[in-house]
Amino acid sequence: KTIALLTGGTTGEWVVSVKSAATIAQNLDPQKYEVYKIMLSENGWFYEPADSVKIEIDKNDFSLTLNGRKIKFDGVFIAIHGSPGEDGKLQGYFDMIGLPYTTCNALTSAITMNKGYTKAIVNGIKHLHVAKSVQIFKNGDYSLDDIKKQLKLPYFVKPNNGGSSIGMSKVKHADDLEEALTKAFKEDNQILIEEFVEGREFSVGVFRAKGKVTVLPATEVIPANEFFDFEAKYTPGATEEITPGRMTEEEKNRVEEVVAAVYEQLNCNGVVRIDYFLEHQTGNFYFIEINTIPGQTATSFIPQQVAAMGMQLKDFYTQIIEETI
Ligand code: DAL
Ligand code: MG
Repeated sequence: KTIALLTGGTTGEWVVSVKSAATIAQNLDPQKYEVYKIMLSENGWFYEPADSVKIEIDKNDFSLTLNGRKIKFDGVFIAIHGSPGEDGKLQGYFDMIGLPYTTCNALTSAITMNKGYTKAIVNGIKHLHVAKSVQIFKNGDYSLDDIKKQLKLPYFVKPNNGGSSIGMSKVKHADDLEEALTKAFKEDNQILIEEFVEGREFSVGVFRAKGKVTVLPATEVIPANEFFDFEAKYTPGATEEITPGRMTEEEKNRVEEVVAAVYEQLNCNGVVRIDYFLEHQTGNFYFIEINTIPGQTATSFIPQQVAAMGMQLKDFYTQIIEETI
C-alpha cells in the first residue's frame, strides 16, 4: 500500500508532530508500505525528498507527481497534533475526496479537540468523574469574582482547544488568576478553568484493531515540575514515568472499563490517549482529556505502552493502518 504520512501543522505543537512522524516513519513495515512523508504548514503541503526539494501536493485528490509519475495514496496516516490534523479539518477534507485515514472521524476529532465539550459528553459514563469547571470566552461576559466564588483553589487554567500544555497554568492564589487567563487567551478564545483534583496522574492509550477495542497498560506520571507542562512532557528524564502504573487490580479493571466506554461513547477510531487522575481520598477516576492524535515521540507514552504490552511498534502501526485503510 502507498501511504502518506502527514506531519507539521499550524500550531505550537508543530515540533512535536515532526518528532512523532519520525518515530512512525521508522516503524512502518517496509515490506507492506511505501511511505511518503508530507509536510503540511502555513506555506503549503509538500513532499520534501531532499534538502531544498519541495514537491507540492495536488489538493484536488491529494496526489503527488514525481518525475512525471502521478502517485495516488491508498490512505493517510495523520501525525499532526493540533490543527489541522487533530481537530477534524483534514478528516473532513479526506472524507470529501474519499481517502481513508487512521484517526477518529471529523466530528469526533472536532469535539474532542475542545476539552470542555468533551467533558460534557463523557460526563454520564459509569465510574467517570469530571473536575468542576467554568468555561469563559474572550469576548464574553465573565467576572473574576464569579469564577473565584464558583471554584475552589487551586485551579488549572487551560486553552480549551490546545495541546501539550501550551498556555496552561496552575493557579494557587486567586490574585494570579488574571495573569493565567491572559496567558491562556493568547492561545485560544475559549478557556477552561478547572478545580484541581488531588490525585495521581495517569495516561493510557486505547485502540481498535480487528474490530476489538484494546486498552494499553497505563503510564503513571510523576512530574518534577508543578504539573506535567511542556518541558516536563518533552525533556527526557524531566518526569518519572512508570509503565504499567501502580494501580490495584480493582482500579485497573475499573479504569479499563471506563476508558473503553469513553472510546465507544465518542465513536473513536485508531489510537487515542486518555489522561486521568485517580483521586487520593476516594480512588475515583477523574477524566482530564482525550488526545485523538497522541504523541509518538521518543518520550511519549504510546510507544512505551505498546512495548509494555509486549508488542512491536511495527506490528502496532500495521494494525492501526489495516483497521481503516
Ligand atoms: N498533544 C500531545 C502531542 C499528546 O497528547 O501527546
Ligand atoms: Mg493534550
